[in-house]
Amino acid sequence: MPLLNNALEIQTVATAWRRYLHQIPELQYDVFETAKFISEKLKSFGCDEVVTGIGRTGVVAIIRGRNGDGQTIGLRSDMDALPIVEATGLEYASKTSGKMHACGHDGHSAMLLGAAKHLAETRNFSGSVALIFQPAEEGGAGGKAMVDDGMMDRFKISRVFGMHNLPGLPLGSFAACEGPIMAAADKFDMVITGRGGHAAMPHQTIDPIVAASQLVTALQSIVSRNTDPLASLVISVTKFHAGDAYNVIPQKAEIAGTVRTLQPVMRDTAERRIKETAAGIALASGVEIAVDYQRYYPVTVNHADETKLAMEAARDVAGAKQVNDSLDPMMGAEDFSFMLEARPGSMIFMGNGDSAGLHHPKYNFNDEAIGHGVSYWVRLVEKALA
Ligand code: NI
Repeated sequence: MPLLNNALEIQTVATAWRRYLHQIPELQYDVFETAKFISEKLKSFGCDEVVTGIGRTGVVAIIRGRNGDGQTIGLRSDMDALPIVEATGLEYASKTSGKMHACGHDGHSAMLLGAAKHLAETRNFSGSVALIFQPAEEGGAGGKAMVDDGMMDRFKISRVFGMHNLPGLPLGSFAACEGPIMAAADKFDMVITGRGGHAAMPHQTIDPIVAASQLVTALQSIVSRNTDPLASLVISVTKFHAGDAYNVIPQKAEIAGTVRTLQPVMRDTAERRIKETAAGIALASGVEIAVDYQRYYPVTVNHADETKLAMEAARDVAGAKQVNDSLDPMMGAEDFSFMLEARPGSMIFMGNGDSAGLHHPKYNFNDEAIGHGVSYWVRLVEKALA
């Protein structure tokens, strides 16, 4: 089975939904209009259950197959947008300045709606499908909120599948890999406290700016000197704030940043060495350094059996040449990781063609991809619940 017979028809109607959602971007958990639009559509398709307010503003719809009882698999989309001023100039651009669907979650939602419509009409599977629309993927852990709200048990979901578009991957292609596919994202804040004073008399001060500067470069040595060059670790200092005057050595400096890893052991090493490095710099320079290290999104780990199934479904739809099942993992993080910690499953990327990158003000989801994405979801369901 290549694309669904009615893929073009679904693409036409889902494109209209996508462009509507694109105009009403909402952030984090405040996806009220988006969730309302989605749940109304799901009800109009005749889904057996449509439940709102899961994980605050998440939506879950259930469609039962007509071939008897069986397990329930979850298909997940995300609904939230980003705090970015849109620069696409599209006629259906964001109506709210400073908010934009720059990660394609409008397209993900439209595709899952398209799949829901088709699945509710055909029901050519046993068991049930849970369509999961999550809030707050962009740094708000909405996926975790839905899991913590008991979604997996309540809807008896036994396996979960996710899909994200990927700029640069050709239209109509799919890619994934077994094992870690996206990184864990941790964050740290450090306050470096010295002793302020006159900038012309540095010997009477303890300069937090010099100490913080040493710390920034020392943190990079963890990556280059403490860890296996073949293992993945990113430590990026992304904030550095200190001082207000030309002639004053300030009392404090503050730095913050992100840590990305693909393996639990590397995550542990990074956290330990960051704290040790801060303690060492503090001792050497006489400042005090308070470190607040927070573990955030876990590694997104694709389970072997579910990834095989996902790749087979993708090959059925796109043909073997358009499917890469040994994609190199990416150091970005994904909230779907929390769902994969709760249940076995797999995350797959779908080509967005030659578009601007994710989170870019000129990014746009490629509507031509909708037919491919919907066909993949439907094929996956019919394969997983045959
Ligand atoms: Ni995204």
